[in-house]
Amino acid sequence: MSPIRNIVVLTGAGVSAESGIDTFRDAGGLWEQHRVEDVATPEAFARDPDLVHRFYDARREAIQAKQPNAAHEALARLDAGWPGELLIVTQNVDDLHERAGAKRLIHMHGEHLNAWCIACDTRSRWTGTLIERPACPACGMPGYLRPDVVWFGEMPYRMEEIYAALNKADLFVSIGTSGAVYPAAGFVREARAAGARTLELNMEPSQGSYWFSEARHGPATQLVPQWVDQILGF
Ligand code: APR
Repeated sequence: MSPIRNIVVLTGAGVSAESGIDTFRDAGGLWEQHRVEDVATPEAFARDPDLVHRFYDARREAIQAKQPNAAHEALARLDAGWPGELLIVTQNVDDLHERAGAKRLIHMHGEHLNAWCIACDTRSRWTGTLIERPACPACGMPGYLRPDVVWFGEMPYRMEEIYAALNKADLFVSIGTSGAVYPAAGFVREARAAGARTLELNMEPSQGSYWFSEARHGPATQLVPQWVDQILGF
């Protein structure tokens, strides 16, 4: 078997679950508490911006009180210690990967702690609320800031870089995601087609489990440190 040099890691809500951040589709998850059509589409924002702002303002505040867990910390260790190429692609909009120290990281679905001005197209660091329609720090226009989150029907970010990394990956690892949402759910097949080995680390088999050459099931805070120790040769 050829040596592993280039690794792509995909993470989802399951990697932050043990930090106390709700996942989307597990029992009692966000999409049981809220209708996607009411809070996570451009149409919802046009129809009822207050409802959408209330939803994201509450989540933006909540994540700032959460801490990275052992899975985030292990991936930051991998980032610091892996001599080959590594890209961590997260579907999560929290900042726990960065707070744990990860650097080689892409937020393909955006970030809670950014506000996006649809007047001047600037993204500004934002930790407060948006419901009162504050002015954009860059252009000064009030009322044009929206959550910097990729909603259903919108294009995820930095897809060219992600596909370039997948196409030269020797190993693709998926952590804490249900495989319910594309294009992320298709990454395993992209990586396989490029000849990569594929590993799923998840609490239970995901919808795309079939495509993985290996799967380990259990909590991320156990599986991820074990896998990182193994790949770093500890
Ligand atoms: N450890 C490991 N896996 C876990 C844990 C845990 N502690 N807790 C839950 N999981 C797994 C679940 O079994 C499930 O397969 O994490 C997965 C979470 O799935 P979803 O809630 O569907 O979240 P995700 O896959 O990240 O959603 C993808 O959908 O709603 C959109 O844009 C949103 O980025 C999100 C995308």
